[in-house]
Amino acid sequence: MKRIAVVFESKYGAVKKYAEWIAEDLSCSLFDRKSIKIADLESYDTIIYGGGLYAGGVSGVKILTKNFDKLSHKNLILFTCGLADPIDKANTDHIKQSLNKIFTAPMQKKIKVFHFRGAMDYSKLGFIHKAMMGMMYRMIMKKDVNSLKHEDKEFLASYGKTVDFTDRSMTIPMVSYIRELQG
Ligand SMILES: Cc1cc2nc3c(=O)[nH]c(=O)nc-3n(C[C@H](O)[C@H](O)[C@H](O)COP(=O)(O)O)c2cc1C
Repeated sequence: MKRIAVVFESKYGAVKKYAEWIAEDLSCSLFDRKSIKIADLESYDTIIYGGGLYAGGVSGVKILTKNFDKLSHKNLILFTCGLADPIDKANTDHIKQSLNKIFTAPMQKKIKVFHFRGAMDYSKLGFIHKAMMGMMYRMIMKKDVNSLKHEDKEFLASYGKTVDFTDRSMTIPMVSYIRELQG
């Protein structure tokens, strides 16, 4: 039996929820990135890393980029979790562009990426995150209404609210992909 590990970093819980669903479906190990060392992943053949989108970047994704030499012989899967709807190709293209800035060509080839939709409760945001969201809001509000992208409109619609788009069914393609890898 090949061994699978799901590793995640979650600030407010949405990524953790997806990581738990995936680990349950695949009956595999689950680790919080902050509580493991890279050596702990040595015996696994498949590593799934999940992180939230923060200002375009994926939190904790350095675990893959910094340790790529040690991990590149394994199956590597990344899932992102953000408020932007991954059904919209413009949103996933945007994430891809950001990832391509930090992933080398071999990483882009090796790491299979999936995108899930997350959640946000403004009342639970930390001080810095609240300030970042406020800055973003003011930036978008300064734009000409006719130039607003779908993503901007979605941001404005959810600003200051509690939204939860987490959906277990979003993980189905990823879980099927990993089951196929396992043979
Ligand atoms: C400061 C900040 C920046 C964010 N930036 C993005 C972003 O660039 N794209 C996106 O889709 N979602 C963005 N989000 C939304 C988070 O990705 C979303 O809340 C996600 O569910 C976080 O998962 P976690 O709480 O498990 O870390 C941002 C949230 C905060 C607080």
